[in-house]
Amino acid sequence: MTFSPRHEQPDLRELLAFYAEAGVYDALAEDPVDRFSDPGPAQSAPQISAASPAGRSQDRASPAQMRAAAPDRAAPPPRPAAPAAVPDEAQAALARELAASANTLDELREKMAAFDGCNLKFTAKNLVFADGNPEGAVMLVGEAPGRDEDLEGLPFVGRSGQLLDRMLASIGLDRNSVYIANVIPWRPPGNRTPTPHETEICRPFIERQIELANPKVLVTLGGPSAKLLLDTTEGILRLRGNWRTHQTKSGEVIPAMPTLHPAYLLRNPAHKKLAWRDFLEVKAKLKELG
Ligand code: URA
Repeated sequence: MTFSPRHEQPDLRELLAFYAEAGVYDALAEDPVDRFSDPGPAQSAPQISAASPAGRSQDRASPAQMRAAAPDRAAPPPRPAAPAAVPDEAQAALARELAASANTLDELREKMAAFDGCNLKFTAKNLVFADGNPEGAVMLVGEAPGRDEDLEGLPFVGRSGQLLDRMLASIGLDRNSVYIANVIPWRPPGNRTPTPHETEICRPFIERQIELANPKVLVTLGGPSAKLLLDTTEGILRLRGNWRTHQTKSGEVIPAMPTLHPAYLLRNPAHKKLAWRDFLEVKAKLKELG
């Protein structure tokens, strides 16, 4: 049987199209890592060894090489148990301590940048702390950065950010008059949903960020942000459009408007009118509060 050059050399365009269809959009490292041949402990953060400064695959033995080097070892040693709830609780406790000790937003940003307790930090390119005016009367909180936000280190700069800007403009606001942040400040790989553990670990940071910014009005964008900050389990379609409150650790009560996430609105444009009504509510509340 003869192979055409096409079979000998995979067509890279076809391969990329296959990856895109399979949902593989993001390279986490320069080279692939063969996890099946890795007998080391299960870790959530990438491990970079001194012998292999960039974790490059040419420094790794192939499965066949490993078997040849250890012919009497039938199976790799068992992996240690994956870290469980206790370490996560310790990280959440550290996050609470760090957040509480920040007296300004700049200090908070520094402490978050130095915090290693959330695994998302190790796959993200940047900390996405905030954008806009921390003195603004309105603070908006989304869920987690996407690809564009991760690259720029700023929240809501991609397509949903552009829609958010138009929604703000419809009530006479822009990034000079509002402050924008996310519940999770690091991009989850491939834009997956943050896990409950990741959300709990990051919770003290966004709560302190709201407390320090002390806006007149809080706007939560999407279900996860509303659930976390308004302490409710109700679905966003029931929640939206109704005033709630967010209570800070120091007891400040901030009026909060849950609304639909711009990314949801891009997928469901018929619901834009609902979000527009919510934004008109925000405008009226700002007028009322003076
Ligand atoms: N979606 C979010 O929730 N936040 C961003 O910053 C971007 C998209």
